[in-house]
Amino acid sequence: MSMHAVRGTKDVFGDEMLLWHRAEQVFREVTAAFNYREFRTPIFEHTEVFKRGVGQDTDIVGKEMYTFEDRGGDSLTLRPELTAPIVRACIEHSLLHHNPVQRIWYAGPQFRYERPQKGRYRQFHQFGAECVGSPHPEADAEVILLSYEALRRFGVTSFKLEINSLGNAAVRAAYRSALIEFFEHHKGELSEESQKRMYTNPLRVLDSKNEKDRQVVASAPLLQDYLDEESKIHMTSVLALLNSAGVPYVINPYLVRGLDYYNHIVFEFTTDALGAQNAIGGGGRYDPLFALLGGGDQPAVGFSIGIERMILLHQAEHSQEALVESEPRGVYIIAIGDSSRDTVHTLAVQLRREGIHVVTDLLRRSIKAQMKDANRENVAFTVMIGDDELATGSAVLKNMVTGEQQTINQSAVVSVVK
Ligand code: HAM
Repeated sequence: MSMHAVRGTKDVFGDEMLLWHRAEQVFREVTAAFNYREFRTPIFEHTEVFKRGVGQDTDIVGKEMYTFEDRGGDSLTLRPELTAPIVRACIEHSLLHHNPVQRIWYAGPQFRYERPQKGRYRQFHQFGAECVGSPHPEADAEVILLSYEALRRFGVTSFKLEINSLGNAAVRAAYRSALIEFFEHHKGELSEESQKRMYTNPLRVLDSKNEKDRQVVASAPLLQDYLDEESKIHMTSVLALLNSAGVPYVINPYLVRGLDYYNHIVFEFTTDALGAQNAIGGGGRYDPLFALLGGGDQPAVGFSIGIERMILLHQAEHSQEALVESEPRGVYIIAIGDSSRDTVHTLAVQLRREGIHVVTDLLRRSIKAQMKDANRENVAFTVMIGDDELATGSAVLKNMVTGEQQTINQSAVVSVVK
């Protein structure tokens, strides 16, 4: 039997790992610039957190969750997203009593039972941030700028920021009724899926990718026309802050997002470079979520970016060579013969304690083979130790870039290669 990774999951290794590290470094730098602090929640939660938080009628809760009963009979779910768990944690630890604004970021694996394809996995990773406690447009603008800055610093450019307002609860309720009424008049023209959705989650029909649905949607009433004064002011204030930060965006009146907890601003980063999976990240304001999880009224706004999609976009935009570490670094210590092995070991220990990158041979190979290995490992120096060097306490140091070779005292290796 051949063993292989579970469908929809993938191994990350080799040169691709360099991109993951670069992405993680960008997350740390950008969140530090915005004063967000890292938060880690467990991989699984009580299923209720997502049922109540994300919404019963969403695709995520309806058909994509990895839910199981543990040995104690509790229903648990591998987290499909992190916003509901973060809110659960804010409530549980009374974080807002300590500080009325919580700025939180996270990165980690998520699980959704979706049909795997390029850029869509069953285990994937998200980087995200949540700003909890402020109802004001400055908070919306802050998280949008943070997410934009992360993508920009990571070095991807072929994406656009789409933005829309869903209004407040009253606006959405009125719009929802108007939409259902409109879809009832066009029921026969809608796809089978949308005929079901038009009652449970009519707003989702708006961002259906089905051609039949799109034709109907083109003449559907627009949410913008239902927005009240408060919602309009919120939206224009956020847009003004983006304008003054020089962040380009497009208003997409059909953007609704797939999770139920949103109100007011929703946004998405989309690209044409990744085929069908065109959303690199998304988010919005989710004031209703705290109350849904029993935490009273508490405004909040945030986003998540799919790390695999961000990396795929980087690969689509940049050549492979750009990813490989090209600068030679560190030392390869070559043992000539068995007798020098102990000295090589001691020197390696000493150099590593000084923070120097050191490689030694683990296959007891010939000098020639070790030299070849040193080239493959892209080291800056080799240090050779054989019987002559053992007798005199010296080492033959070679600069792999210039080819220059010299014999020096073993105790001087640290200062030369550092
Ligand atoms: P979401 O739109 O469901 O939002 O996911 C955010 C991003 O995660 C997507 O844009 C995509 O890049 C990535 N993603 C989602 N599913 C997959 C998958 N199966 N494979 C690969 N990547 C995927 C949320 O999760 C919200 N919690 C965002 C948020 C935070 N809203 C407010 N705060």
